[in-house]
Amino acid sequence: MYIKSFLFLIFSVSLYANAWWEGKVVYQVYLRSFQDSNNDGIGDIPGLISRLDYLQSLGVDALWLSPIHKSPDYDFGYDVKGYFSIHPALGTHQDFQQLTLQANKRGIKIMMDLVINHTSDQHPWFLASKSSKSNPKRNWYIWSDGKGNQPPNNWRSRLDESSWVYDESSNQYYQHSFFKEQPDLNLRNPEVQKEIEKIMHFWLERGVSGFRLDLANYYMKDAGLRDNPATNSWSKWFQSSVYAYMGQEHLYDKNHPDLANFYRKLRTIADNHNALLLGEVDVDDGEQAIYAARSVSNQTKGTGLHLSLHRDFISNKFSAEGLENIITEHEALMPRDIPMVVTFNNHDHQRFSTTHTAAETRLAALFTLTSKGFPVLYYGEEIGLKDAYVPQALGKDPLPRIMWKPAYFAQIGRDGCRTPMHWDNTAYAGFSKVEPWITFDKEGAVSVEEQEQDAKSLLNFYKKLISLRKQHVALAKGKQTLYKTGIKNLLIFKREYKDQTIWVAMNFSPANWISLNTQITPENILASTHPQTTNLTELGPMQAVITTKIPSPTL
Ligand code: GLC
Ligand code: CA
Repeated sequence: MYIKSFLFLIFSVSLYANAWWEGKVVYQVYLRSFQDSNNDGIGDIPGLISRLDYLQSLGVDALWLSPIHKSPDYDFGYDVKGYFSIHPALGTHQDFQQLTLQANKRGIKIMMDLVINHTSDQHPWFLASKSSKSNPKRNWYIWSDGKGNQPPNNWRSRLDESSWVYDESSNQYYQHSFFKEQPDLNLRNPEVQKEIEKIMHFWLERGVSGFRLDLANYYMKDAGLRDNPATNSWSKWFQSSVYAYMGQEHLYDKNHPDLANFYRKLRTIADNHNALLLGEVDVDDGEQAIYAARSVSNQTKGTGLHLSLHRDFISNKFSAEGLENIITEHEALMPRDIPMVVTFNNHDHQRFSTTHTAAETRLAALFTLTSKGFPVLYYGEEIGLKDAYVPQALGKDPLPRIMWKPAYFAQIGRDGCRTPMHWDNTAYAGFSKVEPWITFDKEGAVSVEEQEQDAKSLLNFYKKLISLRKQHVALAKGKQTLYKTGIKNLLIFKREYKDQTIWVAMNFSPANWISLNTQITPENILASTHPQTTNLTELGPMQAVITTKIPSPTL
């Protein structure tokens, strides 16, 4: 018994020690908008291959690709029609093979988006399931009789419709957590689980090094389909007047305890291939201790997801106090030594540089790449790409049409953050030679081409920060200690690994200077948001520094 647990411990420790992602940086590529190779206005895999040299020069270690499978594109790939296929607009299996080959040559891994909470309603599985109550695939989705002429229970989709769609031909309802065009799979069904395992093996064998798991905390629903209870949080109750979804405690439609068993199966497959499971955990404030420390609570036993993708940095205020709170909360909730994912941008939210100043954007970059965490960058953030204004009539994302709640969500459409990368200043920004699939803003950012020439550009700042992480193991995976100085707007933390110690001091005040009570010489500065050629004795407004010398700040 003891021997068994000892061996297990050795095994799990060594597995984690060999994990390729430790201390690494992931870069999310929204493929349709990265680089078009055949001038149809849609970014594609060959286009991405042609930009691998750029990504290597940036220094990122892995790419997470938005979904690449065949899809009716109602939700732009998040509605999958064939898990073993590649969307013809994005490329072919040969292209994908080239991609992994060429990326690996440059030391870059490829990760895929795995969307298994639901499929497209055009997926052959769903068409079969829907065809009759006696179809062998009926049970692959969640079907139920109604209650009288009402849906089976009170569950709501994330878009605030009933979670249930009535199907006249069988007089039953199917369940969906997102768009109604995305019916939820019945992941309790062993046949469906087998299929998911097959899908994972298929792509792992084709060189994929990990998966970003879409809506990973939605996979299991209550087997008895019980009603969710009303919320007991005042703040959620208040929000529910414009967004009824908030009026419930989501006990039975997400964050279910039975997820643990399913995660264990996925984890075994992933670990056998040294692949990363980066699970999207979609929770609102207070939801079951932020879903049992964001679903990786089993990590120490080696059975949960490796890392969880949350939106704390996106939805909370960007300030010294705000960041400190997130770090403290994370430390309290998560098992020790599990890095927190640090990400300020993705394909679902307004870009950070749209809603913040250029100085804040530099601070966020510095924080992302120096704090103890697992950085996930989103294409374009390294050049400060801003959201384009996409008028409703030209919008591609159906979300605002379904969930138009002006009072609550000022900016709900997700098109603005999905527009083409700005490579150069040609008519279509070097993305394509024709009008891109989605409207874009020519002034959205200073192009890669221009920023490469400018030593002080944001792009060169990102490159510097990423290379610092590579050179200093303390930044990549060292221990982190937060310093409570009592000074408002100041965040200071120390990173240490063996005898290497690095300090990061960040002044978030737009007006105040903060004295460091020490002379930091330029040789002791690894990087600063403001280029520094003389001794640094105080931090200017919105200035941050990474240094090997201990600061002891006062106002
Ligand atoms: C996730 C994705 C989002 C998608 C949704 C449904 O939240 O990030 O883009 O629309 O799941 O798959
Ligand atoms: Ca194309």
